[in-house]
Amino acid sequence: MMKLPVIRHIGVFTSGGDSPGMNAAIRAVVRQGCLCGLQVSGIIGGYDGLVKGDIRPLGPRDVSNIIQRGGTLLRSARSDAFRTVEGRRQAYATMVKHGMDGLVAIGGDGTFTGAHLFFEEHGVPVIGLPGTIDDDLAGTDHTIGYDTAVNTAVEAIDRIRDTASSHDRIFFVEVMGRDTGYIALACAVAAGAEFVLVPERPENIDDLVRSIGGSDGMKSSSIVIVAEGEEEGGAFTVSKKVKARLPNADIRVTVIGHIQRGGSPSVQDRILASRLGVAAVDALMAGNSDSMAGVRNGRIVLTPFAEAIGERKPLDTDLFRVLSVLAT
Ligand code: F6P
Repeated sequence: MMKLPVIRHIGVFTSGGDSPGMNAAIRAVVRQGCLCGLQVSGIIGGYDGLVKGDIRPLGPRDVSNIIQRGGTLLRSARSDAFRTVEGRRQAYATMVKHGMDGLVAIGGDGTFTGAHLFFEEHGVPVIGLPGTIDDDLAGTDHTIGYDTAVNTAVEAIDRIRDTASSHDRIFFVEVMGRDTGYIALACAVAAGAEFVLVPERPENIDDLVRSIGGSDGMKSSSIVIVAEGEEEGGAFTVSKKVKARLPNADIRVTVIGHIQRGGSPSVQDRILASRLGVAAVDALMAGNSDSMAGVRNGRIVLTPFAEAIGERKPLDTDLFRVLSVLAT
């Protein structure tokens, strides 16, 4: 029979771009860890904290009053040191020094790439939680922070629509998502936009111009959602190309930017983060490792890191159809 590693002391950290709901996930990991009799430590500043040994003990009361807060109590970073073999060796030395025998890593694909290497090189049991607004991880229907980010962006776009219609303008609104279009597509449908540009589906600018025209002549105002990673080069570039074809159009550009990353997490993100935080501790104690915990079709599932970061989750093609029907 396979011998399960004995887990007595776990470390939890957040890494990469922060996302709303990370605090709720930390809270769940700490409380479930303590309830299971584990010692729990917070690692400050992502992998850098592990490399430098910035570790603090966390108990159930240390995570009071954070479920509703955006950002991350443990702070976050993208670590250059952990990308090196020597950095990971130092991180392992920190774990040995503090007697930590398991990790919960909350972040996105960069975080899991590091966690996978750490597991392969040092055999450290590690479970990942999908914490990113980008929603770009296979193995979970949604990531922690995505729902809040989309709601924040849609609220902003609703305001833009008010002023767009008052002035008969075309607005190009750029949203985040790195090299993916999950946020952009959801925003486009939810905000009733005329068109969306995403990296996964390059579009023809002439089609975009036709769409702004509408089925019964030029619309008085239009909203075009542009994913930051789309191939034309972003909202400003696209707007210039459209202006060249529609010289009389009154065009404005808004880049929503990091506003999408902050703010109090939505109910959906709080629940997802809470479920996954508990699941991560359960998974470690049951002897699992090198995997991300996610929720698919309402159920907790573990997906190996290699799959979660290696496979591309497809965009929902039905949403494109719905958008084009409703934008007529
Ligand atoms: O991965 C989250 C994300 O917000 C992306 O959508 C965006 O491309 C990137 O991080 C921005 O990173 P930074 O905060 O380093 O500017």
